[in-house]
Amino acid sequence: MEYAAKSGSPEKQRVACVIVGVFEHRRLSDAAETLDKASGGVLGGILRRGDMDGKPEQTLLLHNLPNTLCDRVLLVGCGKEREFDDARYRQASRAALRALRRSGARDVTTYLTELPVRGRDLAWKVRETVVACEELRYRFHAPKEEDGPDTRLRSLTVGVESRRDLDDAEATLLTAQATTAGTLLARHLGNLPPNVCTPSYLADQALALAADNPAITVQILETADMEALGMGALLSVARGSRQPPKLIVLEYGAETHKNRPVVLVGKGVTFDSGGISLKPGAAMDEMKFDMCGAASVLGTFKAVSQLKLPIHLVGIIPSSENLPDGNASKPGDIVTSMSGKTIEILNTDAEGRLLLCDALTYAKRYEPQVIIDIATLTGACVIALGSHASGLFSNDPALAKALLAAGEVTGDRAWQMPLWPEYQKQLDSNFADMANIGGREAGSVTAACFLWRFVEDQRWAHLDIAGTAWKSGKDKGATGRPVPLLVEYLRQQVA
Ligand code: BES
Ligand code: MN
Ligand code: ZN
Repeated sequence: MEYAAKSGSPEKQRVACVIVGVFEHRRLSDAAETLDKASGGVLGGILRRGDMDGKPEQTLLLHNLPNTLCDRVLLVGCGKEREFDDARYRQASRAALRALRRSGARDVTTYLTELPVRGRDLAWKVRETVVACEELRYRFHAPKEEDGPDTRLRSLTVGVESRRDLDDAEATLLTAQATTAGTLLARHLGNLPPNVCTPSYLADQALALAADNPAITVQILETADMEALGMGALLSVARGSRQPPKLIVLEYGAETHKNRPVVLVGKGVTFDSGGISLKPGAAMDEMKFDMCGAASVLGTFKAVSQLKLPIHLVGIIPSSENLPDGNASKPGDIVTSMSGKTIEILNTDAEGRLLLCDALTYAKRYEPQVIIDIATLTGACVIALGSHASGLFSNDPALAKALLAAGEVTGDRAWQMPLWPEYQKQLDSNFADMANIGGREAGSVTAACFLWRFVEDQRWAHLDIAGTAWKSGKDKGATGRPVPLLVEYLRQQVA
């Protein structure tokens, strides 16, 4: 797909299709008004015949509008002008692109970017346009007949009001393309079946990123390396699996940016059966998505390297399966983590924190300026926040604020949850330094408190993406979240 920005009047665009908005009760947007004038009122006349009112999601494709240079004009319903907000803008962009898919148009210019959206600038609208276009193009499986013809769209141009906006729009197009490339990588890895996407597969994906980009280096730590480091918590999770665990370490910009890195740590459980504390059977297939934190780290590396962001970034992915087996760890087992702290495993299904605690300890050697971990950590977070916001926990208010803001602009939102020492005592154990579960109350908070014990006073944030990393039901599939949030956060750090 090619993207471009252009200023200039809609009737002068020599393209296969021009997209313009129509508000409810046939209120023409500025671009539609211009086309109506150029065509001597033909556009307005067609609307008055009642083919379209401007309600959300309505579309109408016109051919050969007089005195225009384009083959087609696509009118898109935008709803009531007063109510035109983020959601309506997204809805209109998607409706337009879906309608185009049914046409033969290969290149389009959209003027939806000119519609005012409350509180949003041009960059936001351009980004949303690219996201909508790339999401519609993504399919996990090879296209089937009933999916209809694949979109023939090859090039999309966003119309901007004046030449002064061109630089801004073009820069945003590049950012948005890189971000969606990262998001789609994360989605794709998440969607892969767990017999394909194993810890070794994730390691290969990291190596492939490094092969593509000289600014990325990758190191894979094997079982023996982890034993030597004393990663008893991480290794205990892998005991029940025939697949060897991997600790995947990526580094970007180490050569050019000598400053202390931002470290991203992503949970990479490629299948979570619960282990000996076996999960119920219903929807267990969805536990293939338990590596979506890892996928978001890989996706973020893809985007950051494509954008050539001037930043030093480290990614650490502890990866394993969590399966029951004669050799698997059992409730009551006590393991010693790399930090030296001992952990009583009361539930083998609370495995994410066991992987992450050793990865967080390992992160210390990079003297990070900030550590952010990303994990499908608790079902409790899904109960608390549902699927709209990721749970954010942080020991650093400025970091939390920056991440929340990055979520707001991208629509990949997070919501801050309490991280208070008062919750820590739920993790007390009679037999070890701590237990790996904290009881029924505030399960996502006690999980975060567990991790906090390993980062101590380093600047740190934890994103619990259990509710946001994938969708269930008819639209089952990975979302690629929170790649948009992470890339935007990193961009803001260098801005
Ligand atoms: N990967 C799961 C968390 C999860 C569960 C995410 C359901 C999305 C949907 C995690 O490893 C887990 O099993 N957590 C347990 C923790 C409990 C045993 C304290 C949970 O949430 O039930
Ligand atoms: Mn689990
Ligand atoms: Zn898990």
